[in-house]
Amino acid sequence: MMRILRTLTAASFVLVVWPASVFAEGDAIRGKQLFNRCAACHSIEGQNKSGPALNSVFGRKAGAVEGYHYSAAVSNSTTVWTDETLDAFLSGPSKMLPGTRMTTSVVKPTDREDIITYLKTLPAP
Ligand code: HEC
Repeated sequence: MMRILRTLTAASFVLVVWPASVFAEGDAIRGKQLFNRCAACHSIEGQNKSGPALNSVFGRKAGAVEGYHYSAAVSNSTTVWTDETLDAFLSGPSKMLPGTRMTTSVVKPTDREDIITYLKTLPAP
């Protein structure tokens, strides 16, 4: 009986911990500071600059901001912006979506994680 219990406990431990360890939550405050690298081209208040507004980008389909003229690479893509896709895009935009006009990559994984965590906190305008 104890053995079964122990096995069950171990199994539920793995279930609870595993998803979090794949993409640990970053630091949103640090992410906000790092967003200075993005702010020249991206607003977080709904208006488009040389890049599309990034408020409520998390969970949104790529290329979906109205009134922004995307490259074909982004507007034809079926990508939805999640932890995984944002991480891939920010590590090498044109590697993920060849032909994109977004050229800024974020080399350090922890920087990407913090920026993505910050993006998640931004509400719709
Ligand atoms: C020099 C200008 C510039 C900078 C700096 C920049 N971007 Fe971009 N970004 C763009 C452009 C232009 C696009 C549109 C790309 C296209 O249509 O191919 C874009 C697109 C995006 C998209 C896709 C948005 C959507 O609606 O699908 C995300 C996400 C993004 N950028 C995140 C970032 C982040 C995070 C940073 C900072 C680390 C950043 N960008 C820095 C110009 C920039």
